[in-house]
Amino acid sequence: MRCIKCRGKAVIDLRRHNAAFCREHFVEFFQGQVRRAIEQFRMFGPDDRILVAVSGGKDSLVLWEVLLHLGYRADALYIDLGIGDYSAASTEKVRRFHQQRAAPLGADLHVVSLKAAYGFDVDEARDRVRRPPCSACGLSKRYIFNKVAVDRGYDVVATGHNLDDEAAVLLGNVLRWNMSYLARQWPVLPGGRGFVRKVKPLVRLTERETAAYAVLTGVDYIVEECPHAVGATSHVYKDLLNRLEQQSPGSKHQFLFQFYQQGRSQLKVEERPDLRSCRYCGQPTPGDVCAFCRMTALLLDQLEQPGGGAAMDSSPAGAQRSTPGAPVSQAGPAAAPEAEPASEAGAVN
Ligand code: AMP
Ligand code: FES
Ligand code: ZN
Ligand code: ZN
Repeated sequence: MRCIKCRGKAVIDLRRHNAAFCREHFVEFFQGQVRRAIEQFRMFGPDDRILVAVSGGKDSLVLWEVLLHLGYRADALYIDLGIGDYSAASTEKVRRFHQQRAAPLGADLHVVSLKAAYGFDVDEARDRVRRPPCSACGLSKRYIFNKVAVDRGYDVVATGHNLDDEAAVLLGNVLRWNMSYLARQWPVLPGGRGFVRKVKPLVRLTERETAAYAVLTGVDYIVEECPHAVGATSHVYKDLLNRLEQQSPGSKHQFLFQFYQQGRSQLKVEERPDLRSCRYCGQPTPGDVCAFCRMTALLLDQLEQPGGGAAMDSSPAGAQRSTPGAPVSQAGPAAAPEAEPASEAGAVN
């Protein structure tokens, strides 16, 4: 197998592009695809300040590496969710990447501990509230991404969602014909009204390609998945799409990008609801109290009185209840995620 650029020995075969590359030309190809996505979807410009949400996994660390390599002003945010050994190991990977690869280029890392800032973590949420841990986790992540970005003046939040993630979400939305989620599925979620723009610059690249890039450029990442993600429906969709891809290379890309180019424009995006300020944290929400403050109040009541119910009226939410002195909670939690397009909640991702 020979590199299509230099005829040297190829290290990776990309059937969907009918191509094979040596290390050097694969790295160049990968970075070119990121640049192309940024331009194609007008994600951000050279002067924008980018906050990369990094989990310690391959996608987000690779994204940070590529953005820095391309010369963007990219800092990162890591949220310690308190998911046992998984979070401890992820923290370690992120900190090490920052020290070794990002700090020398002048990039900052912000770390927010859910427990220290808001008084609960994802494992406690799982034990106390009868809802899947991933929903408390997703809500907290969306909230804190926006909060940190708004407070620190970033123009855009970038996540590591890749082609496989987005195609799997599309398949889920098509299987349910969820028209409102379909109408909002796009690699850029616009900002405004208290929300920072969110973008997915890896949307043109697969999980396999990202893993290869990490290995070839020495990005050390946590290989294990979050223990709560085991058995997630999205894995079934990804398996299905991979089987299709095996038979017919390029079908995953076609499925997603033909939707972007043709399908989505046929759908009507619903008007966003009117927003007002959350009674407790002041962030935009369609209701009186934002979803994050409602969840925080419920969890903190549960943690204080095992078996006790939450009373929103008698228990001030998030900002007042969370640990004093915490970096994020001081100013009150941010954006009302329920007012955002369904985002990572799964349906729009
Ligand atoms: P996931 O929902 O776990 O598939 O993650 C999707 C994206 O969200 C990742 O690529 C990251 O950009 C971001 N992300 C996930 N977990 C964290 C975390 N703990 N801290 C910061 N960003 C995260
Ligand atoms: Fe959120 Fe697993 S990363 S529950
Ligand atoms: Zn080559
Ligand atoms: Zn609130």
